[in-house]
Amino acid sequence: MNVPLYEKIWMWMAGGLVVGFVATVLITSIGGALQPPSHVETIDPTQVWRDPRFAHPGVTVDHQGATVVAVGMMFAFNPAVIRVPAGKPVTFRMTSADVTHGFLIVGTNANTMLVPGYVSQFTTSFRQPGEYLIVCHEYCGLGHHLMSAKLIVEEVEP
Ligand code: CUA
Repeated sequence: MNVPLYEKIWMWMAGGLVVGFVATVLITSIGGALQPPSHVETIDPTQVWRDPRFAHPGVTVDHQGATVVAVGMMFAFNPAVIRVPAGKPVTFRMTSADVTHGFLIVGTNANTMLVPGYVSQFTTSFRQPGEYLIVCHEYCGLGHHLMSAKLIVEEVEP
């Protein structure tokens, strides 16, 4: 088969792009531990505050790590300040009480959507103690830009 040089160059460039796209997915998912959340658990979005799983949002810490129960709503997160221990696994369990919100802890791999009717759950850990900004990154209404919270990662005594 006779393929002109010009066409060969384009074929190699197109092939290179495909390799580049696949490599991007592999590098971020393995290297950066960025994975789509796979937990599937449903909830009645109109009964979030009466549901025993979300009636008392907050942080529970034990010797293994921490569990954060949080609710996103127009235009705040409850709790607004989340304190977790550094270097320990932290499991986030969250949902929305109204519309779809986002939950991104800036500078970390913690990033999910809060979709009404579903419980978003993921586990991660924070090596670096300090304060982190949490923002909603799904447009949810006129106050979307005001919707934020704070994560405080605290050093744990050995
Ligand atoms: Cu909540 Cu944007």
